[in-house]
Amino acid sequence: MDIREYDHGFPFIIVDNLYEQEELEEIWKEMQSLHDEGLFLDPVDSYSAWDENGFLKNNKCIHLDEYFAKKREKSTILTKNRKIFTENIIDTSKNWFFSNFIKTCDFDSTLLSYYENQNYYRAHTDSSMVTGLCWFYQEPKRFEGGQFLFPDYKIDIEVANNRMIFFPSFIKHQVIEVRLDPKYAGQNLGRWCMTQFLDSKSIADTSMAQKRKEIEEDAKSILFNR
Ligand SMILES: [Fe+2]
Repeated sequence: MDIREYDHGFPFIIVDNLYEQEELEEIWKEMQSLHDEGLFLDPVDSYSAWDENGFLKNNKCIHLDEYFAKKREKSTILTKNRKIFTENIIDTSKNWFFSNFIKTCDFDSTLLSYYENQNYYRAHTDSSMVTGLCWFYQEPKRFEGGQFLFPDYKIDIEVANNRMIFFPSFIKHQVIEVRLDPKYAGQNLGRWCMTQFLDSKSIADTSMAQKRKEIEEDAKSILFNR
C-alpha cells in the first residue's frame, strides 16, 4: 500500500494497491455476483442528483448498506472496506482538513457503481464530508475514457485498478464518458467504482463520544442495577 498526500488548491489523498490480492479476489467475487444477479439500479431508482438537463449520471449502482441492512457482516465488501479505518489512512494525514475530520468521522456508507459504454457522471458534489473512491477493472483494461476530473481545479486523476482517492465531498468531481467495445459488453469488463461517503453524524470527537458512552453505561448500571 502506498499513500500519498496532495494539495493543489484543496487537499486529497491517493492510496495505491489498497487491497491485497486475496482481498481483491473476494471483492471481485461479490461485485460480480451482485451485478450478475441484476441488483444494480438505474439512476432513476437510485436517488441520483439531477438538473435541468436530466440525471447527472448514467451508470448502474447499488447502495450496499441498504441492500445488506442489518446483515452487513454478510458482505465481503462492507467487511473488507473497513480497511480505510483500521489502516489509519486518513488519521496519519498531515493536512488539517483530513486530520481534524477523521476525529469526528463516525459514519460511512458504500455505493458500488459500474460504468460500461457511454456511461458517465457529470460534474457534481456529494452531500457527505469526505468522499473516498476506489477504482477497479479487469486487467488488461478493455475500456477507454472514464477519466476522473476535478473540473474547477483542472485536475485529472489517472484511474488505476485498486487505487483509492479521498477528497472533500464539496469539491466538484466528474467522470468522463466510458468507451467500451460492444463486444465486451455485459462481461463485467467496464469501470467499477466503490464509493465510501464519510460523515460526522454526532458532531463530536469520537474518542470523547466513546468516553461519554462508558460513563452513561456506568450510570445506567448504578441507577438501574443492570
Ligand atoms: Fe460523487
